[in-house]
Amino acid sequence: MSLPSAIHTLDKDGQEITTIGFERFGFDSRVPIDVLRSLYLKPHYVVNTSETKVDDLDKEEEDKQHAVFGQGLNAYQSKSIYYPETASISYTSLTRFPPVKLLPPSTRKRILVTGGAGFVGSHLVDRLMLLGHEVTVLDNFFTGSKTSLSHWVGHPNFEMVRHDVVEPFMIECDQIYHLACPASPTHYQFNAVKTIKTSFIGTLNMLGLAKRTKARFLISSTSEVYGDPEVHPQHEDYWGHVNPIGPRACYDEGKRVAETLTYGFHRQDGVDVRVARIFNTYGRPMNPNDGRVVSNFIIQALRGEDLTVYGDGKQTRSFQYIHDLIDGLIVLMNSNETRPCNIGNSDEFTIGEFAELIRDVVERVQQEDGVKPVGRVQILYNKPMPTDDPQKRRPDTSRAKESLQWQSRWTVRMGLEEMVRYYKAKMAEGSL
Ligand SMILES: NC(=O)c1ccc[n+]([C@@H]2O[C@H](COP(=O)([O-])OP(=O)(O)OC[C@H]3O[C@@H](n4cnc5c(N)ncnc54)[C@H](O)[C@@H]3O)[C@@H](O)[C@H]2O)c1
Repeated sequence: MSLPSAIHTLDKDGQEITTIGFERFGFDSRVPIDVLRSLYLKPHYVVNTSETKVDDLDKEEEDKQHAVFGQGLNAYQSKSIYYPETASISYTSLTRFPPVKLLPPSTRKRILVTGGAGFVGSHLVDRLMLLGHEVTVLDNFFTGSKTSLSHWVGHPNFEMVRHDVVEPFMIECDQIYHLACPASPTHYQFNAVKTIKTSFIGTLNMLGLAKRTKARFLISSTSEVYGDPEVHPQHEDYWGHVNPIGPRACYDEGKRVAETLTYGFHRQDGVDVRVARIFNTYGRPMNPNDGRVVSNFIIQALRGEDLTVYGDGKQTRSFQYIHDLIDGLIVLMNSNETRPCNIGNSDEFTIGEFAELIRDVVERVQQEDGVKPVGRVQILYNKPMPTDDPQKRRPDTSRAKESLQWQSRWTVRMGLEEMVRYYKAKMAEGSL
């Protein structure tokens, strides 16, 4: 079995990326990428006893493979063993936590992250923890998973609370990142009324908490507030074009009213607010079954299945990598910008082009790892379009550039390679 290659990502000038984050407005968000990668690429891995791997592959080889994938930082990863004959799994815990900055109490912040066990939340929590802050996660685990943060459980700076934001919650804190809300159409349409309650009552509760504790409040809003836009690209001053009664309305209108509430508390009660309008973001650990286009295409290509595209594939999207989003959220939180701020990558692709790009990246990774191609996967068009699927979406990020000095650093291709390697490892493990 050949070893997977270690990941080295070069920036647009050909320099290797070794840290992510930056110092802005007195808040330092820089962390080494190898430590971070060891958390999000393979914080926890499963070995299947039925496969040849455990019996035949010597332990040394397996550890070597894992070290390459985890960039040599195995101390921060736990290994579990799956026994198929009894369908049981033996979990292990970490022997050592990843090193976090030791901050003096005057700079250490108490940060609440709602929805912290989800895709965006878990990346944000990793970053805030490595930076040395005290982080409390509130999550009802509807779409999030405890395993995405299991590497922090027991750490003195970390707390995870099972709680639904629709119910009030009290805690002393300095900053609130309010992310709790299902984000993929499959999940938010599963129970539309609950999605609206989460958006409205959940946001009301968290704003009430911010008012009582004088914490700064940031809400993760969305490009969906622009609906199926009539202007292109979308600037924050555009009011949107949303169908208020369609199947996506529970989410789109939910976020719109959440923004209205946020500015209500700001004007009426002086709550210090930040509003991030997030555009399509990808990265791991996206739930592979939630129907989002990036994970769909990668998994199809890795399985050697044809890629299925909605409609003629001419609809466009812009995709940003998760690290750029986390940089944007942290910098916005610590800036003085109280107006809504688009956070997204403005490189626009048709979905058809995107499918081709993913096919290329998967083929290249397979080639580097010595996997012989069986044949080329095809791209199949004309899968029936979902209702109210926007045709065009691209952020105008000039406000973030001017006001936050933030702009995306990761091209789509750079992030895709990490994701492909992650899903490939999960498949090899048998957990996907
Ligand atoms: N991922 C994107 O591309 C994207 C784009 C625009 C906006 N956003 C916003 O970012 C936030 C996070 O999105 P994500 O992609 O991480 O989604 P996700 O579904 O992976 O995470 C959402 C998290 O919120 C939790 N949650 C849901 N309802 C809750 C409730 N009532 N109480 C407590 N916890 C609850 C879920 O269990 C999950 O952990 C959401 O507010 C979403 O609207 C994401």
